[in-house]
Amino acid sequence: MARKIVLTSGKGGVGKTTVCANLGIALSQRGLRVALLDFDIGMNNLDVAMRLDNQVVFDLIDVIEGRCRIAQALLQDVNYPTLYVMPSCHHAKRVISIDQMRHLMSRLQDGFDYVLIDCPAGMETGFRRAVACADEAIVVATPHPYSIKDAQKVIDYLNGSNLLQVSVVVNRVRGDLVCSGEMLDVKQVFALLNAKPLGVLPEDDFVNCNLEAATNNKAYKMLASNLHDGTASIYDCTSRYRGFFGKLRRNAKRNA
Ligand SMILES: Nc1ncnc2c1ncn2[C@@H]1O[C@H](COP(=O)(O)OP(=O)(O)O)[C@@H](O)[C@H]1O
Ligand SMILES: [Mg+2]
Repeated sequence: MARKIVLTSGKGGVGKTTVCANLGIALSQRGLRVALLDFDIGMNNLDVAMRLDNQVVFDLIDVIEGRCRIAQALLQDVNYPTLYVMPSCHHAKRVISIDQMRHLMSRLQDGFDYVLIDCPAGMETGFRRAVACADEAIVVATPHPYSIKDAQKVIDYLNGSNLLQVSVVVNRVRGDLVCSGEMLDVKQVFALLNAKPLGVLPEDDFVNCNLEAATNNKAYKMLASNLHDGTASIYDCTSRYRGFFGKLRRNAKRNA
């Protein structure tokens, strides 16, 4: 039976959809069967992030309302044969109940090792519905004060729910700025958040272009291992920027 994990943040734009997509890829590269579900109804970012948007025929709402079978709405990624995406509806906002979503999850869970739920921003209905369908939560935060504040609010809510585990991924860490003292160190971010540290992902200039070429591939592999094997390795975003050559790289980045 699948581990059902919701990716959430409170604040929008911190990388939930990106992390959901790339973590799904990293898990599927290990041969695990992964379904990515877009619960951000009406926004359909996940199929775009996975570059599968031109293949969408049916979506999650079509499954829930009985217009198609589950298999018809699951898009298989050609590059990662054990990775599937169920897109959210492209058009109008729809009223969907927690029970309908839970029923969908119960039908999916036997076919996969992981079901990752991409959650909408905010803490309103869409967020609560996504959380109610999951067993675990990964809170995505960036090392910026607003993101940390919102993440803490979300973690407080999640810690009061029935989830088995709540963990944190710190995304968009710039090692050069951490070294120069202009960005919080990940240890400081984890210390401010009352949840288990699960991973750290660097800022990646290529994140939009090609998931395979992403320089944070290694960080995602570590994240997948922490999640699946229970390891606790944290990617060091600052190593490139320490020492003599590190300082040269920092200056080059500053002047770029
Ligand atoms: N580690 C990263 N490095 C650089 N850009 C990133 C990173 N993570 C996310 N982004 C970018 O940030 C923007 C928002 O990401 P997204 O995943 O859509 O956030 P959310 O789903 O939380 O709203 C996107 O343009 C995405 O490409
Ligand atoms: Mg999103």
